[in-house]
Amino acid sequence: MKKFSIVIAGGGSTYTPGIVMMMMDNLHRFPIRSLKLYDNDGERQETLAKAIGIVMKEIAPEVEFSYTTDPKEAFTDVDFCMAHIRVGKYAMRELDEKIPMKYHVVGQETCGPGGIAYGMRSIGGMMELIDFMEKYSPDCWMLNYSNPASIVAEACRVLKPNSKVLNICDMPVGTKRRMGYIVGRDPKDMDVKYFGLNHFGWWTSVKDKDGTDLMPQLLDYVSKNGYLTEKAVETQHMDESWQLTHKKAADLLKLEPDFLPNTYLKYYLYPDYVVEHTDPNHTRANEVIEGREKEVFSAARAIIQAGTAKGGEFSIDNHASFIVDLACAIGFNTREQMLCIVENKGAISNFDPTAMVEVPCLVGNEGPEPLCQGNIPTFEKGMMEEQLAVERLVVEAWIEGSYLKLWQALTLSKTVPSASVAKQILDDLIEANKEYWPELK
Ligand code: NAD
Ligand code: G6P
Ligand code: MN
Repeated sequence: MKKFSIVIAGGGSTYTPGIVMMMMDNLHRFPIRSLKLYDNDGERQETLAKAIGIVMKEIAPEVEFSYTTDPKEAFTDVDFCMAHIRVGKYAMRELDEKIPMKYHVVGQETCGPGGIAYGMRSIGGMMELIDFMEKYSPDCWMLNYSNPASIVAEACRVLKPNSKVLNICDMPVGTKRRMGYIVGRDPKDMDVKYFGLNHFGWWTSVKDKDGTDLMPQLLDYVSKNGYLTEKAVETQHMDESWQLTHKKAADLLKLEPDFLPNTYLKYYLYPDYVVEHTDPNHTRANEVIEGREKEVFSAARAIIQAGTAKGGEFSIDNHASFIVDLACAIGFNTREQMLCIVENKGAISNFDPTAMVEVPCLVGNEGPEPLCQGNIPTFEKGMMEEQLAVERLVVEAWIEGSYLKLWQALTLSKTVPSASVAKQILDDLIEANKEYWPELK
């Protein structure tokens, strides 16, 4: 079997140790000869890398392991780049969440003004990674899950139309796993139909492999409990704030009783509820800094100090095994069906063919082929058209350095009540993002 060479961009990410452990656990189906970490923050990355180096020696000494901040070293001789960068790190996520909240507007990582601000930072970082990849390993595929994935995907479509970049999100994977608990099935044995934009979509069908319709049971359950499940053995999305999000799906279903909603729709359909239930002085960024980030970095320091991972291993991030599924689909042409963020090209028949949409695709060695989902109803289509325009305006604003287009984007976002509030938020965001955004005129 072919052995692959991998670079993880965003080596200092809180997800890196779990993903490395998961990849080591999957070597039998996805063999790796070399694994490199790359980050532009050498110090942050080094803490994780030193600990991962110790673990790798103990569990997979045959895999060559290294880490670097040098793009040439990182991107030379690689088959896949797994990208999960966060331009501006948690310090900027915190501001993305807190600035809109000052105006009683949703403050969220990828939705509304926070997502727009994050998008304006991510585009440059992502374009730089793609340039490195194409310069040093032109045949490499980038599997990107850096957020906000929809804005990044639109920027790729416009600025890098021929690049081998596949944007993907783990939310549909995670929610499908919860559906599996609800109906007592292995998620791999469930066939779905789905349409939407990233963090903005609906399942229209969930069936067993033998064709049994699982929707009636799922709709009934979700209408009562949302996606809260008792026996979830999850490694992510377990904090109290996430439990509220899973539960809120019950209210999302009231607006469209026939489809199962993506949990992120709560920010667009119930923004007033979200604002009421958010502490403006302690947002999700603070929870993550005090939770996941602290745990992962403490574990790394403990391993380094002990000089061994025995007794204090990093946990295996099984939730991320879809990344290996995706790499296998491309590397071994498995043509597995997966939800990816791709150019519509008619998959949603009555929607802009050039929109970057999230739909089931067959993934093989040439990348994802979208599967036809047919026509969508007026309510969802209207919401998606508005949100698509927001995402497009952000990308245009970044390319043209246009203040007006970014103001239009914020004004058009369903989470923002008026052009005047949009302007106040925008002016604060510009001040906070000076180091990261292009200058707007
Ligand atoms: P994190 O801040 O812990 O890690 C991000 C790393 O990226 C940091 O070490 C940072 O220094 C590095 N970085 C920033 N800009 C860079 C650049 N230009 N070049 C190289 N490295 C750079 O963040 P995290 O919480 O672990 O999340 C990482 C990313 O994964 C985020 O974008 C997050 O939104 C995304 N994410 C996506 C999904 C999904 O389903 N799509 C799921 C989980 C996380
Ligand atoms: C889900 C989404 C990601 C997002 C993450 C945030 O997995 O699909 O796109 O980054 O949640 O989780 P966090 O724990 O950082 O709030
Ligand atoms: Mn996501």
